[in-house]
Amino acid sequence: SVPINCGEVLTGKHVLITAGPTQEPLDPVRYISNHSSGKMGFAVAEAAVNAGAEVTLVAGPVSLATPKGCKRIDVVTADEMLTACTQSASKADIFISTAAVADYKAVNVADNKIKKSDDELTLTFIKNPDILATISQRKDRPFCVGFAAESQNVEDYARSKLAKKNLDMIAANNITADGLGFNSDKNALHVIWNGGDKKLPATSKRELAHQLISLIATRFSSTLQ
Ligand code: CTP
Ligand code: CA
Repeated sequence: SVPINCGEVLTGKHVLITAGPTQEPLDPVRYISNHSSGKMGFAVAEAAVNAGAEVTLVAGPVSLATPKGCKRIDVVTADEMLTACTQSASKADIFISTAAVADYKAVNVADNKIKKSDDELTLTFIKNPDILATISQRKDRPFCVGFAAESQNVEDYARSKLAKKNLDMIAANNITADGLGFNSDKNALHVIWNGGDKKLPATSKRELAHQLISLIATRFSSTLQ
């Protein structure tokens, strides 16, 4: 399809983007994960390329084609995603964290396939690193944009993540909205920053990504002044 013309608002800028889910292994054949398709993050990567940016896309396991012109790094777990992001963060001007990172991983990954035995099975999980919070705490931090997929109190939760993770901007969406989010090709976002906000109504993820990149470019350049 024809690229949406964003104007070269990010020419010469490096943009680091995470996308998709992470998978956390339980044993050699099983994992826990979530329903993220990666479509929003890949659309954001495509829009950033179209805006003239040099884009690094760190992707969890998804079945999507790499947007033309971006450098893709495939990862599986949250730990691997953190390593890839840490290595790319120092040259990034903007970090956009769209990935649905698994919040927990198994404390012990079994060496062999877990056998079926008792009627109940208990596994113990430990928190994964927060990739976005780790990057946003760096001294040389890029402009940091988070996502917040919520099923209730969308704006409140998004505002508290903006503050708690020390973000420049957060894009919130209501995952219970009809036909939007996760595996859908459409989405709607409420973008919030300190001192302002903008609602981007339901449209294709491609168009939405283009609007989001324009907004990020505007906010980013105003922080440079
Ligand atoms: N995020 C991340 N690393 C994690 C968890 C989240 O980088 N381990 C990022 C996501 O990519 C997103 C933002 O943090 O940009 C918010 O993610 P979300 O899951 O909504 O928030 P959490 O802080 O994990 O809180 P909760 O899941 O309890 O709402
Ligand atoms: Ca989470």
